[in-house]
Amino acid sequence: MTYVVTEDCIKCKHQDCVSVCPVDCFYEGENFLVIDPVECIDCAVCVAECPVDAIVPDDAATQFWIDLNAELAIKWQDNNITEIGDIPADAAEWAGVPNKLDLLIR
Ligand code: SF4
Ligand code: F3S
Repeated sequence: MTYVVTEDCIKCKHQDCVSVCPVDCFYEGENFLVIDPVECIDCAVCVAECPVDAIVPDDAATQFWIDLNAELAIKWQDNNITEIGDIPADAAEWAGVPNKLDLLIR
């Protein structure tokens, strides 16, 4: 099992999740983060930190989001993130907005 970042993170990217991860397994894109499923130890600490509930266990995620986290964790391997950086100025406006996948910058 692993934990998975899902669509609600896109363009919200609050980053509260990254500082609590004991194994530093978050990787950063321009407007989304992913969890490396190989490194995640399934502690679930990050879940409650996300203001938009974007992080779920893999048994509550679709295979698409499981695969996307794995794929982008490799693609973004040089962009490990462990501390909160700049939060998008319009993050609150994107909270809960559906169908954001087309806006994901890979
Ligand atoms: Fe890190 Fe734990 Fe969240 Fe996995 S479940 S990403 S180990 S905080
Ligand atoms: Fe994204 Fe939530 Fe973390 S919005 S960056 S998963 S705190």
